[in-house]
Amino acid sequence: MEAKELILILDFGGQYNQLIARRVRECNVYSEVVPYNISIEKIKEKSPKGIIFTGGPASVYGENSPKCSDEIFNLGIPILGICYGMQLMAYTLGGKVASANTREYGETDVNIDNTSPLFQGFDSSNIFLMSHTDYVQEVPSGFKKIAYTSVCPNAGMENQEKKLYGIQFHPEVNNSKNGIQVIKNFLYKVCNCSGDWVMSSFVQDSIKKLKEKIGDKKTLCALSGGVDSSVAAVLLSKAIGKNLTCIFVDHGLLRKNEGDEVEEIFTKNYNLNFVRVNAKDRFLNKLSGVTDPEKKRKIIGEEFIRVFEEEARKIGTVDFLVQGTIYPDVIESGLGKSAVIKSHHNVGGLPEHVDFKEIVEPLRSLFKDEVRKTGLELGIPEKLVYRQPFPGPGLAIRIIGEITDDKLTILKEADSIFREEIANANLHKSINQYFAVLTNLKSVGVMGDERTYDYTIALRAVETTDFMTGVWSKIPYDVLERVSSRIVNEVKHVNRVVYDITSKPPATIEWE
Ligand code: XMP
Repeated sequence: MEAKELILILDFGGQYNQLIARRVRECNVYSEVVPYNISIEKIKEKSPKGIIFTGGPASVYGENSPKCSDEIFNLGIPILGICYGMQLMAYTLGGKVASANTREYGETDVNIDNTSPLFQGFDSSNIFLMSHTDYVQEVPSGFKKIAYTSVCPNAGMENQEKKLYGIQFHPEVNNSKNGIQVIKNFLYKVCNCSGDWVMSSFVQDSIKKLKEKIGDKKTLCALSGGVDSSVAAVLLSKAIGKNLTCIFVDHGLLRKNEGDEVEEIFTKNYNLNFVRVNAKDRFLNKLSGVTDPEKKRKIIGEEFIRVFEEEARKIGTVDFLVQGTIYPDVIESGLGKSAVIKSHHNVGGLPEHVDFKEIVEPLRSLFKDEVRKTGLELGIPEKLVYRQPFPGPGLAIRIIGEITDDKLTILKEADSIFREEIANANLHKSINQYFAVLTNLKSVGVMGDERTYDYTIALRAVETTDFMTGVWSKIPYDVLERVSSRIVNEVKHVNRVVYDITSKPPATIEWE
């Protein structure tokens, strides 16, 4: 069964917009993030069970502050305004918003009125994250105050009859202890949702729809072995079987054994045509003598497309081309910023010379964690589903300077040891991305009685949720020691190992 219930999240520019959408979905209700200035007609068309206004950096009194149509409050659809969203609701409906002398920031003791549906089942005092300077000084007429802190007189308000609610704190973040329960109460006690968004339904529904749409027509998929393309491919294979052909371009820049592992999983477990192209020599040829990271990326992206096109031509005209696009790639903010598309994260854009009629994007509505859940639902091995991000250009951007076959071998071995020891220490789930880098630096060492002059391997490990910022992981010294000693003992031409202790920013996660 398809999810029928929808919560619309109006984006006013706050940093937690996507998080709010994910939290709503975690509560089994489908949600979409839309620009704050979405038209009333569009809202009516979408017929949501409820609307959430996000926070945002603006002040309601600001000249260009984002505002939605006043009419939204008369639609009879329940609304929850968070932070700026609450202030906007108060301001529009005749309340007073003022600027405080100091910002209230951090985990704060909030007193709440637990007779409000929003706080049903709560103690009268709770820790929530506050982060604001403006605040609602006077709630609009018809509203009642339902929360306050020692410095914020109106940290929550409601108009039960009109189903309008506002909270100054952020229920979506982990620092707000029972935050998720506030969201649940809004969904289930105010909007009367039943909770029809579950991954098993998504899978069944998608398979059915893909079957109807594609039938026995031919479909092509570029499989990288990453989570998104793998889940998309398996979903399609369940729907159309051998009418799906997956082309796996192995550019030779994958981690140790990875190409073989991908091949094994897809040829043994799924009903689809699998074509592996071993194109390492082609890529290394093109990359010969190239040292500039952006040039490497460009060459690999372009070559990838050429190889894919050549293989596709052998198959002939196809009707559909599969793309592993996911929801964060398509959200529009409406605030003048461009949508969150990390162009450099696509292996190489769209092929120009492949004959296809239409693109299918079966994961377009899913967040990354939902893609993983879908993968598990489809029976894809955990190892693949929880695979850490791996850049399209692969090890090419982890070898500083020129790439050669010998350097690739060194890096693959060192990286494999690092990954093995991280798994042995049971750290593989808590570190979000970790890998070895082959620096271009050679230094003097001593092995036995011999002087050596060999490469330095750098280890990189970061903890992050969004990969936009991150901190270096505090791997215990004994684990680092084991990794270092194994690498210099087992990998020829490496005599030194260093650990990268820089966070992002100012450093990036990758070295190139
Ligand atoms: P940086 O190095 O920018 O990386 O901090 C952030 C995340 O993006 C990945 N990354 C890439 N992924 N193609 C990709 O598909 C690329 O060219 C690329 N560069 C960086 C990186 O591994 C990290 O997860």
